[in-house]
Amino acid sequence: MEDQSQGQDRRSFLRNAGMGGSVLAMGPLLASIQADAASAAPMAGGKFDFDTPYNRIGTNSVHWDMAIRDEHMTKIIAGMGVADMDFKCAPAIMAGLRKRMEHENWGYNLMEIDLAFNTGRTNPFIDGIIEWNRKRYGITNVTPKNLGVNTGVHSGIIAAMQAYAPPGSGVLMATPIYGGFYGDVARTKTVAVESPMKMVNGRFEIDWEDFERRMTPNVKVSILCNPQNPVGRAWTKEELTKYVSLCLKHNIVVLSDEIHCDFVSKGHKYVPVATLDDKKLVDNTITFKSVSKSFSLAGMKCAWYFSTNPEIFARTQANVHADLNTLGVVAAQSAYAGGAEWMDACVDYIDGNHDFANQYIKANIPLIKTGAKPEGTYLTWLDISGVADKMGAQKMADQINKNPPANPMTGKPQKQQNEDIVSHYLAKNAFVYLQPGTGFGLGGHNHLRMNIATSRRTLKAALDSVAGALKNLA
Ligand SMILES: Cc1ncc(COP(=O)(O)O)c(C=O)c1O
Repeated sequence: MEDQSQGQDRRSFLRNAGMGGSVLAMGPLLASIQADAASAAPMAGGKFDFDTPYNRIGTNSVHWDMAIRDEHMTKIIAGMGVADMDFKCAPAIMAGLRKRMEHENWGYNLMEIDLAFNTGRTNPFIDGIIEWNRKRYGITNVTPKNLGVNTGVHSGIIAAMQAYAPPGSGVLMATPIYGGFYGDVARTKTVAVESPMKMVNGRFEIDWEDFERRMTPNVKVSILCNPQNPVGRAWTKEELTKYVSLCLKHNIVVLSDEIHCDFVSKGHKYVPVATLDDKKLVDNTITFKSVSKSFSLAGMKCAWYFSTNPEIFARTQANVHADLNTLGVVAAQSAYAGGAEWMDACVDYIDGNHDFANQYIKANIPLIKTGAKPEGTYLTWLDISGVADKMGAQKMADQINKNPPANPMTGKPQKQQNEDIVSHYLAKNAFVYLQPGTGFGLGGHNHLRMNIATSRRTLKAALDSVAGALKNLA
């Protein structure tokens, strides 16, 4: 009943927005996924339902609607690109938001002001951040004085780069790495210094010799991604200690993006850089986090950062104008205050999805190679060189690149690589959108990133469809 009325609301919304056609075409397909894929073993999410596919089509979601629009899809089984989740959000968040919605005034919010000026005062929003990190991860050095807020992890990272990495200086990263960092590099007019990781026994590791070799005096900051997007490493304490020690030795400030911290697979651990044993190392870092990945609140625009080093904190803070909005603050506060049980169940469910996807691909899609089960994040990194070879993707790309198509976001011509060709092929033939590795720096060639934060049924339907589409190639 609930879904039906939501669908109708959405249809009328879309008609008004001139998008009615795509949703009507998508509706029956999603319904059929729900029926056909019932054979995928449901995984208990406790009292939370992660198993029932939740239709996001027509809500202006990048995850689904952008794939439909940019890939010209007439049918879709799954959007598996951008890093947000398909689930309904934690009930505690909806309860908090509903309560606040009853008050019909949206003036300036005191909780934001406290942090924007670091008054040292505390409030439920600040307490929520501090307690979540203390209880779950043993981070005891976040205080109202060294905690800043802003609308997203990016704007925090950019602020730190503006403080420490002048235009033309180098930004060291172990690659492949989250493509958004290259946007931050472009915005700050700095230069990406890439150290390709190496695959050791099915998992990526930093090539330490190469990493240190690239630490020239022109390199001022290093962006660390922990757990790592896209390769799914949850870095160990030893690795992090080595990473930060080398950076300290070469006067490089570590910008630690720990936005994926809440997603760690069974048997692994998220180690915050702020908990390293040596205070000198911790003081060479600034950490960026948010509720946007953990509780899939990316559209709420509420993130935060902290550093135990007063100078790093102050110089970063000087470049930030907080600009939060009340709904984002309420959503974050509600998530941290009442979302722990949901988060635990969600992490469990994702862990099961990782097992499912990893085993499925190894057993049923021989043209795609995947390493060990990811240790963290809800992303998985796929080597599609076998598919590219089979398709003759390189030849196709060479042909297309004589007159490269416009990038749908920038409008500028963009050369196609093997992974773009394979991604387009799967969108067209498997009705599944997977993100090309092109934007993830060195090591992204011949790879696709797959987001598995969806219902098990949708995941199975997507993998079945990819397997089927690739069988046709063989
Ligand atoms: C590692 C990483 N950092 C940052 C972001 C974006 O964060 P925000 O939306 O808070 O700016 C993402 C989103 O996918 C991400 O994966």
